[in-house]
Amino acid sequence: MPKPSTIHVCSECGHAEARWHGQCPGCGAWNTLVEERAPVASARGGGGGGGGAIGRRGAAGAALTPVALRDVKATAVARLSTGIGELDRVLGGGLVPGSLVLLGGSPGIGKSTLTGMAMGNITGAGSSALYVSGEESAAQIKLRHERLEHGACRALDVPVLAETDLDAVLATIEHHRPEVCVIDSVQTLNASDLTGAPGSVGQVREVAARLMRTAKAVQTTVILVGHVTKEGSIAGPRVLEHLVDCVLQFEGERERTYRTLRALKNRFGSTSETGVFEMKQGGLVEVLDPSARFVGEATGKPGSVVLAAMEGSRPLLVEVQALVSPSEIVPPRRVVTGIDRNRLALVLAVLSRHANVGTGSADVFVNVVGGVRIDEPGADLAIALAVASAQRGIALGTENKPLACFGELGLTGELRTVGHPERRVEESTKFGLGAPVHPGSARTLRHALKAAFATAGEPVAA
Ligand code: TYD
Ligand code: MG
Repeated sequence: MPKPSTIHVCSECGHAEARWHGQCPGCGAWNTLVEERAPVASARGGGGGGGGAIGRRGAAGAALTPVALRDVKATAVARLSTGIGELDRVLGGGLVPGSLVLLGGSPGIGKSTLTGMAMGNITGAGSSALYVSGEESAAQIKLRHERLEHGACRALDVPVLAETDLDAVLATIEHHRPEVCVIDSVQTLNASDLTGAPGSVGQVREVAARLMRTAKAVQTTVILVGHVTKEGSIAGPRVLEHLVDCVLQFEGERERTYRTLRALKNRFGSTSETGVFEMKQGGLVEVLDPSARFVGEATGKPGSVVLAAMEGSRPLLVEVQALVSPSEIVPPRRVVTGIDRNRLALVLAVLSRHANVGTGSADVFVNVVGGVRIDEPGADLAIALAVASAQRGIALGTENKPLACFGELGLTGELRTVGHPERRVEESTKFGLGAPVHPGSARTLRHALKAAFATAGEPVAA
């Protein structure tokens, strides 16, 4: 009897079954069986990027010779610039030849636009690129690339392939050996030897693994585009994170103009860099000085403060807004954009317990303006001051000089220091905001509130 070519493996316990089951017969977990190709003898992975193989593989089971790192030949590889400064910076200085990059983001955020522009620039610079799209026809891609074609971006010269069959795509890559290849998106490619639908966990993993093998063999850099749902996960890119060299996340609200690009994982650079883009008619434009933009747009009204945040290695000033509105709903609503909801809960609890700012019977909305997402604890104080300002109806700072602040809140109401205080203070002074309220100037939340309201004018009549 021929061996089945695929098996179903439990992602919890590793139990393998020939057929799919809703419940794993091995560990009893539900919905954990994922279709995979049946293993062929000795199918070990190829290791990390670049570098070349360490030690030679002997016959099956034979001992290998480990090599001292000192003797490993590692030649410095020149990075390939995408021609988009912010993207290069987030990548750690450009694309590493032969690496596998995953670009995740919700639909409509601009993944195809960003990769299209990068391929246009790379083509314009004389390197070879290939754009594989399983989502759009060549005619649709052309319409977009017509908008991107300006300056050094030769978007219309990029060779495209509208194809969903994995084998055909792999054969094309092997034949043409482009320096960079975009797969838009990894969820639309189909490995015909798996029965699962394109986009299912098994398919996505298989597609990525085989692309990686081919790409490493021919030294093509592959950029995998992957859709992430609003919740940030689902059978998709997340299952690939361990496999790829670099995971980039493209974030922001589709309706807003600002988008941020950050690295969640990077084997060749820092994960703390962030790029800010703006979607315009001719594609994505880098926002080189986002602080100036955000400060210029800050309202200075009750409920608004400026947070001196750190985005990777650079300081960024963003406006945090809060609205506190009496509510009949129990429990009242807590709505956030751009910050973590649990962080708001913590800040509201500390405000109520340690600073007599109660919001128990009010809806609280907190918003980081411009579609920016702030993931650092330094945002706590900005949230607290914005909420307190909104609740009292008192604007902090003066009209053309909104209040700046940063700091983490401790559970006992103390302010805790966060990274790079000097650079944050420097950035606020640079943009004319004056000295921010921060853990170096106020020890507790109470002190911070006092200092903040001391800058304020009269309460706005309700
Ligand atoms: P797209 O890159 O297709 O998003 P994704 O691949 O992540 O799904 O496009 C995002 C949006 O950007 C789309 O609604 C159209 C808009 N857009 C512009 O505003 N200007 C442009 O030059 C282009 C190419 C797109
Ligand atoms: Mg797209």
